[in-house]
Amino acid sequence: MATKGNKAATSLGALLEIRGLSVEYRRHRQVIPAVRRVSLTIRPGETVGVVGESGCGKSTLALAVLRLIQETEGRIREGEIVFAGRSLLTSSEEELRQIRGKEISIIFQDPFSSLNPVLPVGDQVEEVLLEHTGQRNPHRVLEIFAKVQLPDPQRIYHAYPHQLSGGQRQRVMIAMAIITGPQLLIADEPTTALDVTIQREILELLFGLQRELKMAILLISHHVGIIAQYTQRVAVMYAGEIVEEGETDRVLQNPQHPYTRGLLDSLPRLRGEHLRRLPMIPGQPPEPLHLPTGCPFHPRCPVAVARCQTDPPYLAEVQGRQVSCWVAQGGEVRS
Ligand SMILES: Nc1ncnc2c1ncn2[C@@H]1O[C@H](COP(=O)(O)OP(=O)(O)OP(=O)(O)O)[C@@H](O)[C@H]1O
Ligand SMILES: [Mg+2]
Repeated sequence: MATKGNKAATSLGALLEIRGLSVEYRRHRQVIPAVRRVSLTIRPGETVGVVGESGCGKSTLALAVLRLIQETEGRIREGEIVFAGRSLLTSSEEELRQIRGKEISIIFQDPFSSLNPVLPVGDQVEEVLLEHTGQRNPHRVLEIFAKVQLPDPQRIYHAYPHQLSGGQRQRVMIAMAIITGPQLLIADEPTTALDVTIQREILELLFGLQRELKMAILLISHHVGIIAQYTQRVAVMYAGEIVEEGETDRVLQNPQHPYTRGLLDSLPRLRGEHLRRLPMIPGQPPEPLHLPTGCPFHPRCPVAVARCQTDPPYLAEVQGRQVSCWVAQGGEVRS
């Protein structure tokens, strides 16, 4: 329910709207611009992907949406985050506590760091329910454990995190995230710590639950294949910015930003009978403290022109999606 003071309008049909969001960390008196002017919209029930190499600002973006950036470490410098008609940046801590875990849930890559090692996992899931409904309900926890296909929910309820496998721990995290019926689930690399077959199972579970519960998912991954399979729209991030954004099929089948092309070229491809990994994009992404002038991708870009070294590009429509690249906007990047 919108309350006085934090009412805000979203665009028609949007559940979450991030507008011009910049987040910076501070370390040793230095300011680290981790997310820069990011805008992104998620509609109810939709899956939106965020993809990019390590350090491009994906987790920072996720944490900022829930205002989980520690005050001692950094701050949201500018922008707007509107969720279901409420501005999350002007919400009180109390309002945010209600939204977090109830209307917006988040799951992280490493369930170990999110679970309390000295409490049985059933109690931990029940705590979430207690906080948001004011009631203990172990039956509901057992039900949700069955829903996330944990074997023998009774036994799991009383188990400690270290007694579970990685896949089971992630199922517990999913149970914790969905037990309150959130409208939006933020999944930050939810399967990266797991081996490939378990990854697949967990993703199938997550997206099966999404269809059933009709929640929106913001899926963060550095894995283009996972993004391709599960998302409807994708934002490609580089050095804290979105460099290409649009419908996933359109973006990945005919990428317009040279960085998106590079990410796709580094995917394993079937060549003859062998699965071969193609070369990664040469070089490293820049440190946020030492961003190049002009386009941040220009030092690694195979198609950069002189202007790319001096003028920062901005997002503009190219072939039915948004692209931040002078060359693509000039119609010179071909697939
Ligand atoms: N608490 C922090 N204090 C200072 N700098 C930070 C902090 N957390 C992240 N950073 C820096 O902010 C930038 C973005 O980091 P972030 O964790 O958001 O990237 P990411 O895309 O999630 O990477 P990964 O794929 O490795 O998870 C990086 O340069 C990182 O070093
Ligand atoms: Mg991360």
